[in-house]
Amino acid sequence: MPIVAFVNQKGGCSKSTTSVHFAYWLNAKKKQVLLVDSDAQRSSSIWLASMSTPIPFQVIKSPDDLLEQLPELGEKNQFVVVDGPAALDEITRAVLFRSDLAIVPCQPTGVDLRSASDAVRLIRQAQSVRKGEPKAALFLSRAVKGTKLLDEAIALLQKTEVPILKTVIYQRQVVADCFGQQATVWDLPGKAATDAGKEYEKLFKEIMGMLK
Ligand SMILES: Nc1ncnc2c1ncn2[C@@H]1O[C@H](COP(=O)(O)OP(=O)(O)OP(=O)(O)O)[C@@H](O)[C@H]1O
Ligand SMILES: [Mg+2]
Repeated sequence: MPIVAFVNQKGGCSKSTTSVHFAYWLNAKKKQVLLVDSDAQRSSSIWLASMSTPIPFQVIKSPDDLLEQLPELGEKNQFVVVDGPAALDEITRAVLFRSDLAIVPCQPTGVDLRSASDAVRLIRQAQSVRKGEPKAALFLSRAVKGTKLLDEAIALLQKTEVPILKTVIYQRQVVADCFGQQATVWDLPGKAATDAGKEYEKLFKEIMGMLK
């Protein structure tokens, strides 16, 4: 069953936050899910281990192990979510060679848009070897509402070879608090948490739509 990977070498673009929220959301929708943490920092596996809702995870950091083990994990699990590393190295390449869908979170700043285009390049290489696989999309993460940069980023990303998802995930303190709270936005109180939860729900429905 599908392997969905969050990749982008840019540190802090929200790969781990989105991976954990996606795994949690799938689990809440009664889907069986395994999170594969391929990042040496192990943020997403530490986060999942700290939460009261048990969600299975596995740390696989070597490119060879990822190449060899991901297909079997894909067979065994209803969904596999891969949290990518903060580097466009052999690990990311291995993940792209074994994923069904690659999602690139991208912050709407000049530097981040530049690294997103490097991630897109790697995706295109994998697609060329694998006859079109993996499917791929970008989405804007940690965006600040009403900024000119956001509009410019959307216009720029619309020109890339990979489609951009409609949902934008905004910068919110409540999202940043989740790791320390050993929680996701759906476990935290307040309007900001509810709004963030709705945004993630919208994003994940779009991602599920791409898997059809
Ligand atoms: N929508 C958001 N609003 C506010 N803070 C956010 C949001 N998304 C992520 N963050 C915060 O930004 C930081 C980086 O997020 P995260 O660790 O998910 O990124 P990453 O891409 O996995 O980074 P790395 O490349 O280092 O693994 C974290 O402190 C996280 O809490
Ligand atoms: Mg991370």
